[in-house]
Amino acid sequence: MAALPNIITKVTTHVLQEMKNKGEKIAMLTAYDYSIAKIIDRANIDAILVGDSASNVMAGHRTTLPITLNEMIYHGVSVVRAVSRALVIVDLPFGTYQGNSKEALNSSIRIMKETGADAVKLEGGQEVIESVNRILSAGIPVMGHLGLTPQSINKFGTYVVRATQKDEADRLIEDAHLLEKAGCFSIVLEKVPSQLATRVASELKIPIIGIGAGSGVDGQILVLHDMLGITQDFSPRFLRRYHNLYEEIYGAVGNYIHDIKIRDFPNEKEQY
Ligand code: KIV
Repeated sequence: MAALPNIITKVTTHVLQEMKNKGEKIAMLTAYDYSIAKIIDRANIDAILVGDSASNVMAGHRTTLPITLNEMIYHGVSVVRAVSRALVIVDLPFGTYQGNSKEALNSSIRIMKETGADAVKLEGGQEVIESVNRILSAGIPVMGHLGLTPQSINKFGTYVVRATQKDEADRLIEDAHLLEKAGCFSIVLEKVPSQLATRVASELKIPIIGIGAGSGVDGQILVLHDMLGITQDFSPRFLRRYHNLYEEIYGAVGNYIHDIKIRDFPNEKEQY
């Protein structure tokens, strides 16, 4: 399938929908800071998620639960400042939208106003639909997230594949339809059987972005630190590592230390 011509100056939710309509796969990555966001935007990534996975890979927390709205806004501002082409979506962190829809709207308005992002993402289906409706009513584009929803890890108790049983799969399909009907522009499906994800992508008109959801969906997302091999202790089957940056950085830092110790750095040309 031919890619859309590279004359797009800014990817919008409408562009993502066109990509699905034309059968062009959507490529997404996470980013949390200015320098990395600039590189991946220049590389023509279609959309960037300022994910609450920042809680894990940037702040070192065990789960995504501790990250705050202010911290997400800090990451969002840094990414938006770097990006000129990609669609930028910022995660609503745990505890900022589940309680009541008014709080969900206020959190989303803060993200949109203070970061300049294009959209927000939240986790869940039926149980958060009032919040989804309220955010959408303010004209804020919403991306859904179903399947393995890391903010509910304490309820699941495990990061294993979700919706392998019929009742959970049926509920996921219902939730996906509900989110589409409400007006979400896209949904992330995380760690679910590929057959189920393929079915959701073919039943729904909006783009379905998979992570550990197989190849039958409309696009893929990975956490940047995982696909670049910066993180070492996370190796699910769905993760393809495109680089081993941990080793590269480790080696480079070792060389730097060595050069200082043997008085090779700085040399004559590296001083004033
Ligand atoms: O926070 C995140 O990085 C995410 C992706 C895994 C989809 O939600």
